[in-house]
Amino acid sequence: MNNIRNFCIIAHVDHGKSTLADRFLDITGTIEKRKMQEQFLDLMPLEREKGITIKMQPVRMQYGGYTLNLIDTPGHVDFSYEVSRSLAAVEGAILLVDATKGVQAQTLANLRLAQKQNLMVIPAVNKIDLQSARTEEVVYQIAKLCGVSSEEVFRISAKEGKNVKELLEAVIRKVPPPKEETEKPLRALIFDSRYDPFRGVVAYVRVMEGRVTAQEKVWLLGGNTQTLVKEVGHFIPAEKQMAELRAGEIGYISTGFKEPENIRIGDTIAKDFHLEQALPGFLIPKPVVFVSFYPEDTDEYDVLKDALSKLRLNDPSLSFELESKEALGRGFRCGFLGVLHSEIIAERLKREFQIDLVISRPSVEFRITDQKGKERIIQSAGDWPEQNFVQEAFEPWAKLRVLCPVEFLHRAVQLLESLEGHGVETTSLTETTMVLVYEMPLREIIINLHDRLKSVTSGFASLEYEVIGMRKAALVKLDILVAEEKREELSQIVPEDKAIYEGKRIVEKLKEHLPPQMFTVALQAVLGGKIIARETIKAKRRDVTAPLYGGDVTRKKKLLERQRKGKKE
Ligand code: GTP
Repeated sequence: MNNIRNFCIIAHVDHGKSTLADRFLDITGTIEKRKMQEQFLDLMPLEREKGITIKMQPVRMQYGGYTLNLIDTPGHVDFSYEVSRSLAAVEGAILLVDATKGVQAQTLANLRLAQKQNLMVIPAVNKIDLQSARTEEVVYQIAKLCGVSSEEVFRISAKEGKNVKELLEAVIRKVPPPKEETEKPLRALIFDSRYDPFRGVVAYVRVMEGRVTAQEKVWLLGGNTQTLVKEVGHFIPAEKQMAELRAGEIGYISTGFKEPENIRIGDTIAKDFHLEQALPGFLIPKPVVFVSFYPEDTDEYDVLKDALSKLRLNDPSLSFELESKEALGRGFRCGFLGVLHSEIIAERLKREFQIDLVISRPSVEFRITDQKGKERIIQSAGDWPEQNFVQEAFEPWAKLRVLCPVEFLHRAVQLLESLEGHGVETTSLTETTMVLVYEMPLREIIINLHDRLKSVTSGFASLEYEVIGMRKAALVKLDILVAEEKREELSQIVPEDKAIYEGKRIVEKLKEHLPPQMFTVALQAVLGGKIIARETIKAKRRDVTAPLYGGDVTRKKKLLERQRKGKKE
């Protein structure tokens, strides 16, 4: 047990976690040189293409007589649930900060999560090889945050490997070995899982107590089900079969379950069935962004349902329920932790399950009370009742933490205030960086706030947020008519005082994007039966005389006359 270290790497997006993991894999000789490729632990093709980590990935390494279990985590705010689960499986964390960017919002958020779990945090400043690196300034920032001296912060280049060996040795020195006892009966925490078409559900576990071998009967405490363990093993990072998994180790248990519903992340696998033995598990975060997925081919409804259940296996924050629309058939209203999360799931459905989807606009969840005082949850504008049925409406608000260099503070504040944000607090993190705390409707955050903030601050500001509850709002439903026909999929819920502006904006945008027809197309925004904005797409004009080369003028007239008649018809 004394020779095991379990740790993960946490950081803001793109600060170099996966690259540092690559160097660890090199140094420990875990991956053969010829098989090595950049960001090796980003195993999904989608992760490699987008250059971001979406899923945590465990890997076991051997170094100097020690077994090191590393979990690489994602950095984007939408995937922070992955980070919190990884943290529950380890005793230490390397907190990585980019020397050119400094401490960012997710650095702070992840540090807080690690401290909550009482983990040993080892701070390191990465990318010191870059010309634009502000190494000592960033070292000072992170040392202050972690409450350590500047000498204790590692200065590394994950790309060139500088000081990476020293950092790995510090992990062995500083991160405590697991405390658990092997002699107790088995208790293992499921922190992730995946579906294997041949072997069924594979649970990723951290064994807290006892040991587990194949052909052993175990209980899933939460689900009250028993199963025979098919196989146990480690990650190298592919799954490798072993004779047993012992307390303190991270590995997998192949359960043989064919139904994804049988395994719940956060559940405990135990030898005997005693509910009180269950480990604390995780709070599943509530989805905040809702998007409808319909299969393009309506016969693929069951395939989509199956695919969503399988994806939920290693992403418990994904929720979905049946929804049907006249024009689109049967589909699912899905709940996500953010817009990027929804885009990634849509992309995975397309790539991993070959399902082409019709996807609605992302929306938050509203709550209304009708005239009789009855509450209703509204997840899509299509479900919003006639305005006179709505007595009160509520929408989710979020608390936003923005880290911003002093020189861009003014622009960041301007942007936040223009989006109905209320400033709560402004504090300074260091001499050059401020922390702005704002409260604003979640609706504004999910529409590209991140990109807009980046663009007004030349890419320097970063943000993170959490939903803080529902607040009363004056909301109305804006309908859009295209050629006098209501298009439910374009309807939106908007604040009453922004309805006219929004209506104008939408019809103008539609005019830019819709192709002209042979006849005039009216685009109208309608509020409570009244038209509040209108644009017209002019009819396409075909030059019917184009094929003529000179010739008699009467031939040209004849063609124009025929076109006139046709249009009238
Ligand atoms: P997410 O998982 O998406 O949060 O990203 P990440 O933190 O895993 O970052 P990743 O390892 O993908 O690195 C992001 C970019 O920084 C890549 O282009 C790396 O090549 C580059 N990078 C990482 N470390 C270094 C370094 O030490 N020096 C330089 N010059 N570039 C680095």
